[in-house]
Amino acid sequence: MSTQLGDSAHKPNTVNPVKVTTQTVVDMKHRGEAISMLTAYDFTMAKLIDAAGIDIILVGDSASNVMAGFETTLPITLDHMIYHTSCVVRGTDRALVVADLPFMSYQVTTKEALNSAGRMMKEAGAHAVKLEGGRPIIDTVGRIVDAGIPVMGHLGLTPQSIYKFGTYKVRATEDAEAEQLMEDARRLEDAGCFALVLEKIPSKLSKKVTESISIPTIGIGAGPHCDGQVLVSHDMLGLNKDFHPRFLRRYADLHSIVVDAVGNYVHDVKSRDFPNEKEQYN
Ligand code: KIV
Repeated sequence: MSTQLGDSAHKPNTVNPVKVTTQTVVDMKHRGEAISMLTAYDFTMAKLIDAAGIDIILVGDSASNVMAGFETTLPITLDHMIYHTSCVVRGTDRALVVADLPFMSYQVTTKEALNSAGRMMKEAGAHAVKLEGGRPIIDTVGRIVDAGIPVMGHLGLTPQSIYKFGTYKVRATEDAEAEQLMEDARRLEDAGCFALVLEKIPSKLSKKVTESISIPTIGIGAGPHCDGQVLVSHDMLGLNKDFHPRFLRRYADLHSIVVDAVGNYVHDVKSRDFPNEKEQYN
């Protein structure tokens, strides 16, 4: 178990009060302990997820879809991501907070990537950053890690490249792409990544990757052999009822709960049932 980092102004988490660090998740892989990760984009959701004992909170650029309503993750900016990340950091006592660097904030030059990662750490208080891709960003990953910023990699169906792929189908089903992904995983480990997200690839391939590198793999649509699993919290809580890929398990139907509750409120206001005697000041 890792050591406690600094003092927290908040009450310690009751599930496990010890703060999660990048070393904690690497140690979890070596102990065979599964790693749990979920997304959050705001203070309230981060507080709920942290209190439930999650290991890693990802401030994903899926905020572009879930929070802003864009079709892809491309439009969200570094300033938006810094805002969302700072809200999540304020709501988190125990989990490791990893923030996505958004599209075109790290691909053009290494200098720009270092500036983006540095802003995410200094202005938002992130504990680590996540970058999508393999070969083309290896040097950049190394430079960010050398600057003291932990990096999580992301291979497979990387949504920032959706216009290159042209489809959200499973990646690396052909040998050439699978071999490239294996090599990219090893090179990201060598460049200093502390963990690697594998998105929507065959489970046989994610098993091979997981067994061939010493950093943890965290899968989404990548089967049971990864060292950990990640889902988008709004999807697994059933807030978004229009998205049902095979890999998604729903743990609640918050869509119905919220729509029913709001419908009841509208009814009570219209019928002048709310507020009643006890819900007013005399
Ligand atoms: O942005 C995101 O939510 C992600 C996860 C799906 C891994 O990158």
